[in-house]
Amino acid sequence: MKISIYPGSFDPITYGHIDIIDRASKISDRLIVAVLNNPEKKSLFKVEERCEMIKDAIKTYDNVEVESFDGLLVDYAKSKGANIIIRGLRAVTDFEYELQLAQTNRQIYDKVDTIFLLTNIQYSYLSSSIVKQVAKENGDISKFVTPFVSDKLKKILNK
Ligand code: PNS
Repeated sequence: MKISIYPGSFDPITYGHIDIIDRASKISDRLIVAVLNNPEKKSLFKVEERCEMIKDAIKTYDNVEVESFDGLLVDYAKSKGANIIIRGLRAVTDFEYELQLAQTNRQIYDKVDTIFLLTNIQYSYLSSSIVKQVAKENGDISKFVTPFVSDKLKKILNK
């Protein structure tokens, strides 16, 4: 059974992430979207809220689930019996950081492989930070996130 982990901050989940989830779900028997719970990293949404938004976005997928994790990603992957990590690459600028992450993970746990999926060109400019900036300034975010996420953003930003 091919168990894959798609880790990230997802603060909040965007259509770019959903595109990666969709494609990763097709090459995995079971896909776990893993939300990093890192109190040291300032996030807009609590980890439970980030999971709730992902849960809504994946409700039509039978083989996708969401969980939060803390500590090392490879320890979490090991605990789930997963040896594939999925990451999206939007542009060359993502590559250096992603390479470092993937190589570090493999040094710590050599049974794990990272599979990079190229973000659909339609979403190659998109990031959670950009979405938050546009939402803060009352811009239209309907092309970036689901209506569920859009409502949550408006509520948290008092818009
Ligand atoms: O969405 P992000 O913020 O780019 O995701 C980064 C993430 C969560 C994949 C990465 O920070 C991570 O795996 N953190 C867990 C801690 C860890 O395992 N660090 C060692 C590898 S550098």
